[in-house]
Amino acid sequence: MSAAPPVAVENLNHWFGKGPLRRQVLCDVTTSIPAGEIVIVTGPSGSGKTTMLTIVGALRSAQEGSVRVLGRELRGARSGDLEAVRKRIGFIFQQHNLLAALTASQNVELGLRVTGRFSRAELRRRADAMLDAVGLGAHLDKKPEQMSGGQRQRVAIARALVGEPAMLLADEPTASLDKTSGREVVDRMQSLAKEHGTTILLVTHDNRILDVADRILHLEDGKLSTFTDAVIASTQQLMHTLAESKNRQNLEDMIAGMDEASFRRTLQDLTQESQRFLQAIGRAEDEAYRSMLEQSLRVFTRRVGDLLNAERASLFLVDRERQQLILQVAQDAPQAGAIRIPLGSGIAGAAATTGKTVRVADAYADPRFNPEVDRTTNFRTRSVLCLPLHDTRGDVFAVTQLLNRRDGQPFDEQDEQRFAELAASLGVLLETLVGMARR
Ligand SMILES: Nc1ncnc2c1ncn2[C@@H]1O[C@H](COP(=O)(O)OP(=O)(O)OP(=O)(O)O)[C@@H](O)[C@H]1O
Ligand SMILES: [Mg+2]
Repeated sequence: MSAAPPVAVENLNHWFGKGPLRRQVLCDVTTSIPAGEIVIVTGPSGSGKTTMLTIVGALRSAQEGSVRVLGRELRGARSGDLEAVRKRIGFIFQQHNLLAALTASQNVELGLRVTGRFSRAELRRRADAMLDAVGLGAHLDKKPEQMSGGQRQRVAIARALVGEPAMLLADEPTASLDKTSGREVVDRMQSLAKEHGTTILLVTHDNRILDVADRILHLEDGKLSTFTDAVIASTQQLMHTLAESKNRQNLEDMIAGMDEASFRRTLQDLTQESQRFLQAIGRAEDEAYRSMLEQSLRVFTRRVGDLLNAERASLFLVDRERQQLILQVAQDAPQAGAIRIPLGSGIAGAAATTGKTVRVADAYADPRFNPEVDRTTNFRTRSVLCLPLHDTRGDVFAVTQLLNRRDGQPFDEQDEQRFAELAASLGVLLETLVGMARR
């Protein structure tokens, strides 16, 4: 069956303001959400997330482009049609908007009453069953002020879901919650949605909940990109910040000039960020994520190559079980991943087995060098610099290899030192990425 997706947005443009104050907040947004999927939209404040959500929810009219929701075109639709679409959607906002004078049960009943389908007793029965499903069976008669933020937000979820909407739209549902309640709230949303096949569009800043998503979209300045693109952009930003200057001297100064505390803080930030990624991708094993990780490694490898003026930079991962090096990133060589060499052989192999940097001024004069590789890649290697990367246990998990300095000189001791410092400052991040790429 190939039914139309519940949400199909095409070339959506939106502006706020008039005359000289007119400003575009959504630029050519195109996306669709398949039935039963949970899609999370992330992005910085002011990027247009709420605007997009309210347009999809028929709460705001679409100005340009096409927005088809639950089988109807919203652009140019009459208010009666918009109303009909709204009735089939459950909304959850940052402020839960519960009525203070009503109990939890009564608040949830409100979500059903609009349908006009049920008797009083049935309203109550359904409301209580839904509250029970979100873990609030013991709090049916409490008023909002007697409940915690997380409990109130769960009442709001029960209210949004009790009418069995075809779709759920949530704007920052965990914003006012601590970590544990936020987690509880999204877990409930996820399991209820999966049970009922509800499509969910969720807007959030909260990186901690990304793992419930089937798909993550990223809005920036009103433009939509995939999460992968966003990650690549931020990885590049990260690399750029760390290795800010093309000037070698500045780069050295920056790393050398960082006092130990701020250096450690930088590493901690990177690690936490990486671990959040790890959690975020824990359940998403699709190609996009793999390619994201591979791209991050590529960005790192290229950057190091550029900084050291190398003609080529590549990265080998160590596969201890098979006693092999796997070529993971190769500049201008599409066969990365396919090339495996025995751990003990070649110059990279020497770096991997000894755990020491290997610097060779003239590859063809070195017995460890295998000229066969040059022949297949149509390249002429002169000098080589191979640096083993150690994991937190001290084992070599990867080898970065640079070929040929662009000025024709062999790599020197200074290059070696700079290379080592760079790798040390990024080792933690790299280890996490490599760990993820391998899973
Ligand atoms: N009613 C409005 N009139 C004029 N400008 C608006 C209006 N609503 C939003 N904007 C502007 O449009 C842009 C996008 O706003 P929007 O609320 O969609 O951002 P957001 O991504 O949800 O941000 P946040 O994460 O802070 O909630 C912002 O620059 C905002 O100032
Ligand atoms: Mg918003």
